[in-house]
Amino acid sequence: MSPSKPQAIGATPPGETPLLLRALAGEPVPRPPVWMMRQAGRFLPEYREIRSKVSFLDVCHNADLACEVTLQPLRRFGFDAGIIFSDILLPLEAMGRKLEFGKGMGPRFPDPVRTASDIDSLKPIDPVRDMPAVLRAIQITREASGVPILGFAGAPWTLACYLVEGQGSKNWIEPKRMMMNDPASFQRLMDKLADAVGDHLQAQVEAGADAVQLFDTWAGALSPEDFRRWALPAAQRALSRVKGAPRLYFTRDTAAFLPWLKDIGADAYGVDWRTDIGRAREVLGGAMPVQGNLDPIALYGPAHDIRARVHQIIKRAGPLGHVFNLGHGITPQTPISGVEAAVEAVRSWQWT
Ligand code: CP3
Repeated sequence: MSPSKPQAIGATPPGETPLLLRALAGEPVPRPPVWMMRQAGRFLPEYREIRSKVSFLDVCHNADLACEVTLQPLRRFGFDAGIIFSDILLPLEAMGRKLEFGKGMGPRFPDPVRTASDIDSLKPIDPVRDMPAVLRAIQITREASGVPILGFAGAPWTLACYLVEGQGSKNWIEPKRMMMNDPASFQRLMDKLADAVGDHLQAQVEAGADAVQLFDTWAGALSPEDFRRWALPAAQRALSRVKGAPRLYFTRDTAAFLPWLKDIGADAYGVDWRTDIGRAREVLGGAMPVQGNLDPIALYGPAHDIRARVHQIIKRAGPLGHVFNLGHGITPQTPISGVEAAVEAVRSWQWT
């Protein structure tokens, strides 16, 4: 091992397939692999240290810094996978819309997409030309890391939410207004986004990503009919452009949509804590791998409670095809000790 490699506990011994890829292939594992959405970020002092000097977008656009920030949680916790440090909204910047992250405000598009001509003006992206930092970050992080590295993108519906609304929202009135009033234009937007996202994911696989995750964070804001009409086929269209690595599809608040998720054609599905993971397995079919699903706020509880909750999820999910994760991202005030307790609980599990 060269001195530059992180001492990631849980790094795969040479010649062995990493736990994450075994679980995603439905192969037997002694315990589930564990990683956490937003495992790199503000709850870590070493991340805040970098962010005290460099803006969020500048970290994303600098492959060396993005690599460093991706490795931070691997060094500290020994996760079984890293997720490359970037953001789902960056491809929209590459498509020509100005993107801002204000202090404590979340993302903003000062010129949201609202009309047919706005949609026409979105540039198709060539990920190698337009998103070089994330691709380079994947290459160097993979060389430096002993565990698999995930690439990711936002699903078309979730990207349309931010792009049309212009900022975060509860009701997503603007994207839904376009969907209801001008379905033809909205369809064109979803198609453009699906193709951009699919090509972006494929470029990440070609750069070395071991698996990719499509985040459809706001799928649960749609009615079942609108989910099936809009979000589902767009996610399917995006994933159909991706070959060569397992593809995960993550949603929140979609327990009622479980019976249709398989139509998306992903290789595994991430569910949030509102879905019973045992039921998700039943509905998706025993062979379909699932990822999840500890309530991220459970990490604020005592270690013994975290351990009991983690073991309950592992038991409910069963021995084959489970990737342990949270049901959504780590929040910024999460105690480090809570993350340590959860990781330790997964690592101490033994399927016999
Ligand atoms: O560790 C990781 O998970 C990898 C990096 C990652 C980030 N964002 C970094 C980030 C990933 C996978 C994302 C995905 C993302 N980004 C999603 C989908 C998943 C989810 O959380 O629902 C969404 C909806 C976004 C858009 C986004 N980016 C929002 C709404 C915000 C503001 C809210 C917040 O948490 O601050 C961001 C900013 C963001 N993305 C931060 C990080 C570490 C915080 C930036 C900072 O340092 O101030």
